[in-house]
Amino acid sequence: MPTVKILVIPGSLRTGSINARLAAVVAKEFALAGVDVTRLSLADYPLPLYDGDLEAKSGVPKNALNLKRMLGAHHGVVFVTPEYNSSLPPLLKNAIDWITRVEDGNETQGQVFRERAFAMASASEGKLGGSRCLAALRLILSGCRATVIPNQLALSFADQAYDERERLKHKADSDALRGMVTQLIDVAQQMTRGA
Ligand SMILES: Cc1cc2nc3c(=O)[nH]c(=O)nc-3n(C[C@H](O)[C@H](O)[C@H](O)COP(=O)(O)O)c2cc1C
Repeated sequence: MPTVKILVIPGSLRTGSINARLAAVVAKEFALAGVDVTRLSLADYPLPLYDGDLEAKSGVPKNALNLKRMLGAHHGVVFVTPEYNSSLPPLLKNAIDWITRVEDGNETQGQVFRERAFAMASASEGKLGGSRCLAALRLILSGCRATVIPNQLALSFADQAYDERERLKHKADSDALRGMVTQLIDVAQQMTRGA
């Protein structure tokens, strides 16, 4: 059984992003659980806004292929995303849309979503912790026929959620984080065995 590889993708590029901060904590928890973890920045995969005319003229951008291959090189993927108006930000939705358009060798469109496990987290300074955006993201990923684990982390009042060692200080939050990490590793292992 190869070491499980997990990819963490923050859905914000903003300086001081509370979701990039949470993504770092999520990645650390996976590392503590003994799996290989990679955290990428969507800044390294700039993509135009999806446009069918652009796709017809120029094809799918190389960065969408590269991003799809990054997903494909991991057994599990975690999106850590801000909530924008009860849904997910265009940065992340656009990246997902482009990835679903990639055809790569013998792989069909969207195959990369169907063959691995996904988890989701969100940080917000509000009391719902981005939970509406997680519902929207779950719907989108389910539409891609991805396996999305039930456990998730909606970090409310994210500006007050950490202790001085950058750990989640509330038990409910740290339990939710651990539950998500453990379940994603389990499901990713099961899917790898079944492959
Ligand atoms: C266009 C826009 C819409 C937003 N809508 C919501 C929302 O529906 N729920 C929420 O909790 N926060 C909302 N926010 C606040 C974001 O959660 C906050 O700006 C957060 O810091 C963004 O994440 P980041 O720090 O990782 O970039 C919104 C922010 C913007 C810019």
